[in-house]
Amino acid sequence: MLRVCVIGTGYVGLVTGVCLAHIGHEVICIDVNEEKVKLMQSGQSPIFEPGLSELMQSAMASGHLQFSTNLQQGVDHGEVLFIAVGTPALPNGESDTRYVEAVAKGIGSHLNGGYKVIVNKSTVPIGSGDWVRMIVMDGVSERQKAPVAAGSLPTSIHPEVVADFDVVSNPEFLREGSAIYDTFNPDRIVLGSNSSRAIALMQQLYSPIIEGRYRDQPGGEPVPVLVTDLSSAEMVKYAANSFLATKISFINEIANICDRVGADVTQVAAGIGLDSRIGKKFLQAGIGWGGSCFPKDVAALIHTADDYGYDAQLLKAAVEVNDHQRQIILEKLQQVLKILKGKTVGLLGLTFKPDTDDLRDAPALILIEQLNRLGAKVKAYDPIVSQSGLRHGLTGVIVETDASHLADGCDALVLVTEWQQFRDLDYAAMAQRMHSPILIDGRNCLDRELLMRAGFQYLGIGR
Ligand SMILES: NC(=O)c1ccc[n+]([C@@H]2O[C@H](COP(=O)([O-])OP(=O)(O)OC[C@H]3O[C@@H](n4cnc5c(N)ncnc54)[C@H](O)[C@@H]3O)[C@@H](O)[C@H]2O)c1
Repeated sequence: MLRVCVIGTGYVGLVTGVCLAHIGHEVICIDVNEEKVKLMQSGQSPIFEPGLSELMQSAMASGHLQFSTNLQQGVDHGEVLFIAVGTPALPNGESDTRYVEAVAKGIGSHLNGGYKVIVNKSTVPIGSGDWVRMIVMDGVSERQKAPVAAGSLPTSIHPEVVADFDVVSNPEFLREGSAIYDTFNPDRIVLGSNSSRAIALMQQLYSPIIEGRYRDQPGGEPVPVLVTDLSSAEMVKYAANSFLATKISFINEIANICDRVGADVTQVAAGIGLDSRIGKKFLQAGIGWGGSCFPKDVAALIHTADDYGYDAQLLKAAVEVNDHQRQIILEKLQQVLKILKGKTVGLLGLTFKPDTDDLRDAPALILIEQLNRLGAKVKAYDPIVSQSGLRHGLTGVIVETDASHLADGCDALVLVTEWQQFRDLDYAAMAQRMHSPILIDGRNCLDRELLMRAGFQYLGIGR
């Protein structure tokens, strides 16, 4: 078993640390956020992810998992050092790599000899592997130049002696809401590096997962491992997310045409999804993609292409279709309610997808802003946000703590996030309590006939 340090304990870092500890590695997770670290040290997860708290507590109890704010401690401990900090988008679409830079520099300034593998798990722009190596070396040199009191290294020691490391790109494909399942049942593991020593250590690290020992279905196939150069591994992540985002934009475009010609996009999606070359997944028309990954990753790839003189027209079109799709609910509300000023709209769901508490770039936030601008009152219920402290950070929306009160006095309901429990609400009772029983199903996930029998005027997307 290996000694691992995971730096950054967000949706990716915490899940990675917990899962690696669960399979027996000695893991220390580092974060700069003291409050978060204190919470985790007390056995509580700062994020909602199904199954995470339980797995975290058992890994802590077995002594395989620790949390700290002390990077020195993490670097000393880890043979494998994961960088899993955020890489949000800058206003021009470029990826903001300042957190990765700070961590790489920090690692360099704490290296003390002994071979390490530094793993980029954050989604980083193509070419970041070599850049991280350079920043780590900057950190080493700065420490050598620092005054003795700050823990400097004698300048007689060559930087290469303390800095015996390789960089690996190991992009993460987990989905929020099923992150634990995805970690133990990945479709593939991608390892990008030009060092066979580093690749061998990474294969050793993941071997229990690669061998399928933690699959939900025992006796499954081993997990395919793709070994590539650094840049190709970085590109795999951007290409995968850009493909999925484009596939959603494609079906949304088909839905918009369906709306005009009177076809039903759910039937069309079923018809094309049965073609094995196309596949059924990511063909649910709706209010567009959001969240912490697709928008920023597509924007970053467009930006990278631009840096190299290439106009990524298809990706730009996927973004444009998505931007338009985010207006669709408003258009449908205006179509049925006409004037929105003074009307009350209830939103079912706030997070960008079910089974997460993540509100980053959630379509609901844009809808709230648009409705507020047009003078409508907005109420919402979300199974996680309604129960957590997150609701206090939301403006322009009254967050109900009970789903059954959401419909009271509403002129329309909009299903924004396809939480499973929204399929089973007592819609007949809700229709009774509304000014006008209108429901816009932004994810085409409800039973249209059932809703109509409950007394609703039902509007889907492209059906
Ligand atoms: N969220 C996802 O579903 C997902 C999936 C695949 C890949 N990714 C990628 O993984 C990376 C992390 O995403 P996330 O959603 O987990 O981010 P996040 O924002 O949830 O978490 C980042 C964490 O890093 C910590 N941090 C920032 N600077 C630090 C520093 N100098 N030292 C230690 N900790 C520091 C923050 O306090 C925070 O806890 C991003 O590059 C993202 O694109 C995310």
